[in-house]
Amino acid sequence: MTTATAIAHPNIAFIKYWGNRNPVLRLPENGSISMNLAALRTQTSVRFDASLKADSVLLNGVEANPAQAQRVSNFLDLLREPGGTPAAVESTNNFPSGAGIASSSSAFAALAVAASQAIGFGLDERGLSRLARWGSGSASRSVPPGFVEWFASDMDEGSFSKSIAPPEHWDLVDTIAVISEAHKATGSTEGHALAGTSPLQAARVAGAGQRLDECRAAIMSRDFERFAAVVEADCHLMHAVMMTSKPALHYWLPGSLVVMEAVRGWRQQGSEVCYTLDAGPNVHVLSSAKESAKLAKQVAELPGVLRVLQSGVGGATQLVNS
Ligand code: DP6
Repeated sequence: MTTATAIAHPNIAFIKYWGNRNPVLRLPENGSISMNLAALRTQTSVRFDASLKADSVLLNGVEANPAQAQRVSNFLDLLREPGGTPAAVESTNNFPSGAGIASSSSAFAALAVAASQAIGFGLDERGLSRLARWGSGSASRSVPPGFVEWFASDMDEGSFSKSIAPPEHWDLVDTIAVISEAHKATGSTEGHALAGTSPLQAARVAGAGQRLDECRAAIMSRDFERFAAVVEADCHLMHAVMMTSKPALHYWLPGSLVVMEAVRGWRQQGSEVCYTLDAGPNVHVLSSAKESAKLAKQVAELPGVLRVLQSGVGGATQLVNS
């Protein structure tokens, strides 16, 4: 087969990936844990076609910019012979690309699964998650279903992702408070390269193993209080590293702080709710499903919140009929 299509969900990390031990292979400094977001989807088709002069990449119906197109071509070069067959890649997101949702996670998960199928590689889930990792680290975690752990290793073979619980294990909901739709000033790839310039990165990495154990245990026992404590602590540690790297990276906006403060208040009043933020100002408000309808309204009413997206736990990246 020379054509294949895959659908992937982006994921939100509870224990974060920030900094690489090997940036080319995207071997992360520490392991991470996330959940896939069912309501958000990237659908990507790949067609290898010898009659094409060069790769073409369409994102949401628009030709990709040169940097994006180059990143896709570099990824496809991992699969084909040097000077091999060009490909036509078409990818669409059902969520706003500028909304600061980690679209590189679903983008490279879908691309890895579609491209390896189209070229005829029989990779298993572990192989696909390793392959996706080469495109974008967080994409490794979008390959398996549900709640997922990505392992850190010094070796390419050892750094893959695996499901720790299926989507139906725990009905968590991510209510995303969109604070800005502007493109982020410093993308994650550049940010990872700066992590080591912060004096706090070594301490963050040293404690990651313990936080991974704590987060895994909280998920397995569906203990929201335990989960909230470790998720917020890990988010604060990553942002502390960002704010103290050289140059410093500041992703929070006033609206982000408004949401964070409100979430802490709601939790104090007994709600099962906590937050995390990636490399951007939008706040992912995590809650049990029973809180989610009320939360969507409460979050949308906070000053500085442009809009709200909501999603439960999603499945694996899957091939679909083109
Ligand atoms: C803050 O996976 O986007 O979202 O490997 O360079 O594509 P690249 O980086 P990326 O980094 C994600 C960083 C994060 C935390 C996380 O998702 O774990």
